[in-house]
Amino acid sequence: MDDPTKPDLRIGYLEHRSMRADAARLTELVGAAQPTDAGRLRALADWYGRYEAAIHDHHHAEEAVIYPALLERDPSFGEADGQLEGQHQVLADRLQVARESLTGLIGATGGGRWEPEREEAVKAAAALKAIVDAHTGDEEAVAFPRYSAHFTAAEYAGLNKQALKLVGLRSFVFAGPWVLDHATSDERAELLGEQPLLLRVIYRLALQPRYQRLVRPLGPASQPARP
Ligand SMILES: [Fe+2]
Ligand SMILES: [Fe+2]
Repeated sequence: MDDPTKPDLRIGYLEHRSMRADAARLTELVGAAQPTDAGRLRALADWYGRYEAAIHDHHHAEEAVIYPALLERDPSFGEADGQLEGQHQVLADRLQVARESLTGLIGATGGGRWEPEREEAVKAAAALKAIVDAHTGDEEAVAFPRYSAHFTAAEYAGLNKQALKLVGLRSFVFAGPWVLDHATSDERAELLGEQPLLLRVIYRLALQPRYQRLVRPLGPASQPARP
């Protein structure tokens, strides 16, 4: 962390990076899918369910806890707030379309509708990637600097605690290893080093292996983690 008095935005940036990298990975995987890939596509759909839920949790926390707190401190955030929440809605719709098209693709394996279903699924994944890229970029430009300007480190940590309470532990079970998977090795070592011993043990023995089982059928990440 650069300045310990300022909000720690590392996890926020990492969540966005993970969303973007996996939207890109989804687009590539669907584009490369073959009609004989039924098992692999079912595994992809299982993973996708966790990815989709993690994004919903992230947005729910922003809309219920983080944005309202910021708006109270900085009313000039109002217009951006409206735009960002509008993007959340578009993103939620595209997440649903991508899920439905993935289900359609699984149903088309080995059948005559494979090519049109794959085209649909690629289009849906690309549309999802476009809004994920746009929204995370906009939020990092208009909201993140305001977090730094208007909250202390302790206040922002308190908001994140409230948010975690709101979305529940379920989100942490996937999102913890998910964001660490998209971190560089230095970032991962730094973040893990700050956790209590018990949590590090739970991560290594349970959360990380469980996450790896979930993503193994997806193959290696499409690109190495980068800040
Ligand atoms: Fe957001
Ligand atoms: Fe966000």
